[in-house]
Amino acid sequence: MCGIVGAIAQRNITPILLEGLRRLEYRGYDSAGVAVMPSDHHILRVRATGKVAELESALTDNPANGHLGIAHTRWATHGKPAEHNAHPHVSDRLAIVHNGIIENHSALRSRLVEQGFVFSSETDTEVIAHLVAWHYRLTGDLLAAFRAALNELHGAYALALVHEDEPDTLYCARMGSPLVIGEGSGENYLASDPLALLQVTDRFRYLEEGDHARLTLDGCEIWDARGEAVQRPALRYEHAALSLDKGEYRHYMLKEIFEQPGAINDTLAGTLGTDHVLTAILGPDAEARLGNIEHIHIVACGTSYHAGLVARYWIEGQVGIPCQVEVASEYRYRTVAVPANTLLITISQSGETADTLAALRFAAKGGYLATLAICNVAGSSLVREADWRLLTHAGPEIGVASTKAFTTQLVALLWLTTALLQSRSGNQAQVAANVAALRQLPELISRALELEPQITRLAERFANKHHTLFLGRGPHYPIAMEGALKLKEISYIHAEAYAAGELKHGPLALVDENMPVVSVAPSDSLLEKLRSNLEEVRARGGELITFACESIDQEGASPQDTLSLPEVADVISPVLYTIPLQMLSYHVALVKGTDVDKPRNLAKSVTVE
Ligand code: AGP
Repeated sequence: MCGIVGAIAQRNITPILLEGLRRLEYRGYDSAGVAVMPSDHHILRVRATGKVAELESALTDNPANGHLGIAHTRWATHGKPAEHNAHPHVSDRLAIVHNGIIENHSALRSRLVEQGFVFSSETDTEVIAHLVAWHYRLTGDLLAAFRAALNELHGAYALALVHEDEPDTLYCARMGSPLVIGEGSGENYLASDPLALLQVTDRFRYLEEGDHARLTLDGCEIWDARGEAVQRPALRYEHAALSLDKGEYRHYMLKEIFEQPGAINDTLAGTLGTDHVLTAILGPDAEARLGNIEHIHIVACGTSYHAGLVARYWIEGQVGIPCQVEVASEYRYRTVAVPANTLLITISQSGETADTLAALRFAAKGGYLATLAICNVAGSSLVREADWRLLTHAGPEIGVASTKAFTTQLVALLWLTTALLQSRSGNQAQVAANVAALRQLPELISRALELEPQITRLAERFANKHHTLFLGRGPHYPIAMEGALKLKEISYIHAEAYAAGELKHGPLALVDENMPVVSVAPSDSLLEKLRSNLEEVRARGGELITFACESIDQEGASPQDTLSLPEVADVISPVLYTIPLQMLSYHVALVKGTDVDKPRNLAKSVTVE
């Protein structure tokens, strides 16, 4: 998705802008550009399609240095990826960058064309540039013109603007897309993601919906949607000290897979007592009301949705609370029946996913007992807007394919299941068993990571495959879904997951010697049922690959087709069996030679619908 960086300083800010764009590369983009104010106050704009490296080489040919500037990475929505569509867009003597989508851009464009403005791109962003310019022609007051333009926009935006008439000022605004202001010493910055600015500051002010701001060398003024001056607290970014480098690893994804024991430890830190969970971390209001929850709705997208599906098995199985799980893009546009005393849970790594955020805002309008965000980014919109929050502490996840964010979400959801159980006078032995199982997870995951050499060999067998089936039962069915999503995301192999019991209702017709069938087969109460399903595959010549418990005899299976995992308590087995599936998709992607950390067509954070 698109990224924004801006800076004002007494030194040349172009290196800050470029480093910021590089740090946003993981989000996915197709072109990049900068607009910089040099000492003669005539804006210099340089844009390029492709990687930030292309922009750097364009800047070598056309240097643009100055003390004030804005920069952007674009992910095409309106108009194809091309230099003329890349940001910044200009009008009269101003330049603007934009994340989000302006829904009324066509009507505004027609009006501005009638006013004599000439468009040089197909983007909705150029409409904003001309709109501000038009209001400025009328008023001669840039702040007033910026506000008047914002009032006319429908849709989502994070914006940054510079104007030659105010060469020491940076304007910005947010509505529906994230934007932060970074505080430096005698210099100030803005960005769509704090990660972009960690090389210069770790102090950030998070703009609220409808805020707009003016940055100078000395500081910033912020106004809310009504134009009232407001203060937004400066918060220290908690992951600033973490290395954002790949270190010894070839890809961020591999690094993040191996970080999982530590990420789970960090997520659990301060949340567990000896044989109980410390529910005070949810906040006093939440702690007191856990026992009142009678229904749960979970809403999320992609991998986070899969975490919700696993949680349904835990919540209904252990606590007996009816739990419905839905993808946010469906939930937000349908009429939802909300029974009394329902908790809405949204799950998101980024906390900025447009559909999930819209679902939370829809739910906040009423009907729910409370809303809870399970999220990896403390300052995100989702966390700030939910009533209650449960933070995963996975640290920054750079690889587009989610790995440590998923397993820490599962840990948070099992913790929540345990908190719900504890809040009822139910089975306290199960509470203690869950706590013990959670504590074992980091060590067990470290053991699962040792399977890498075997999985590397296994991955070779996917070199010429075009399709794969993933099978699981019970809470391992969503794990199979997550395995299939990982494989298609980064290796571009078409993969589908089925509840193994569904095999003979259709997908069995696909099985032949060209179809690998990956099954998640832990030693649980459904193992015998699963084995019958796997026999059906074997009988049809399917290439069966099984992840199974080391203590179970794998009748009829060849050792090279079966990978063994440690025996664990049933409740944590979905977390453990995720690891080899992540590793398999990573190594298959290596065999296929794809761009593992930045797979084609995908963005890390989906901030538009
Ligand atoms: C995960 O591998 C995907 N890249 C994607 O499905 C992701 O989980 C989804 O877009 C939701 O993102 P979020 O967790 O940041 O809301």
